[in-house]
Amino acid sequence: MERLPHTNSVNKAIGANSVACKTLGTDASHDDSAYKKQDSMPKKQPYVSHQPDSHGHIHYSDDENGMWQALLERQAEQIPNRACPAYLDGLKKLNLPATRIPQLHDIDAVLQATTGWQTAAVPALISFGKFFKLLANKSFPVATFIRRFDDMDYIEEPDIFHEIVGHCPLLTHPAFATFNETYGKLGLNATKEERWFLARLYWFTIEFGLVGQNQSSRRIYGGGILSSPSETVYALNAGSEKQAEPQHKPEHRAFDLLDVLRTPYRIDHIQPIYYVIDDLDTLFDIVNSDIMGMVKQAMSLGLFEPSYAVKNA
Ligand SMILES: [Fe+2]
Repeated sequence: MERLPHTNSVNKAIGANSVACKTLGTDASHDDSAYKKQDSMPKKQPYVSHQPDSHGHIHYSDDENGMWQALLERQAEQIPNRACPAYLDGLKKLNLPATRIPQLHDIDAVLQATTGWQTAAVPALISFGKFFKLLANKSFPVATFIRRFDDMDYIEEPDIFHEIVGHCPLLTHPAFATFNETYGKLGLNATKEERWFLARLYWFTIEFGLVGQNQSSRRIYGGGILSSPSETVYALNAGSEKQAEPQHKPEHRAFDLLDVLRTPYRIDHIQPIYYVIDDLDTLFDIVNSDIMGMVKQAMSLGLFEPSYAVKNA
């Protein structure tokens, strides 16, 4: 099974977001329209991850390092006052190079010293089972390729920029790290249908989560947003009277596990809904709750009506 098309990329692009799910690994839990869209999309040259040499070093071209620099510079303008403090703290700890793609062992040194996590170099797409197994073992899958310039604002696959810049800063935070580990363990033991519901939990937290119930101090912690300059701006614009196009304001909802599990989402368009947790330690509360019991309840109740137009294709 393929891992989900990544969000982050998508997002970026259109301001839409994408999933992030390499992560999710999830399967198609994303919305059906996205999958149909993939089927009908013209074929492009597929992305292929780089293989490390005998010393574990990955060699990137000047163009690839240039893309990293361009993406990082663009996002650095958007993150201050929008990303949550823990993310900014993690970013500082990672001390990412400005002009080249970092080596994973450098990322691992910081993750190991903070939460005991590490990265795992993977192909562009991995199976569901492998995705969950890696997370359960405190290994965060990172596809070792970076988007091409013609995909700068839109890419369905989660690339190394999304994984490193979107997620790794918060993997230094205990609640975020524990959430990922627990999620992996639950996913390993879940049925295919249960995984679809679990994917929504990952989507609305790790990929597209907001934190802070006070709107004036609300911040972003979702990696799908934080690796997308356009969505980084858009996501916090709910309720802004200055919004030129009010119909494009996202809706912010207080996090409710059952609601999240029942909320459809799409990967090919900017997110219409974000769920807001009180603070990052709320992620501890979530993993300590009966997630699978809620999944079964959500399966019984069914999904909410999509808040977006569903394609007929
Ligand atoms: Fe992701």
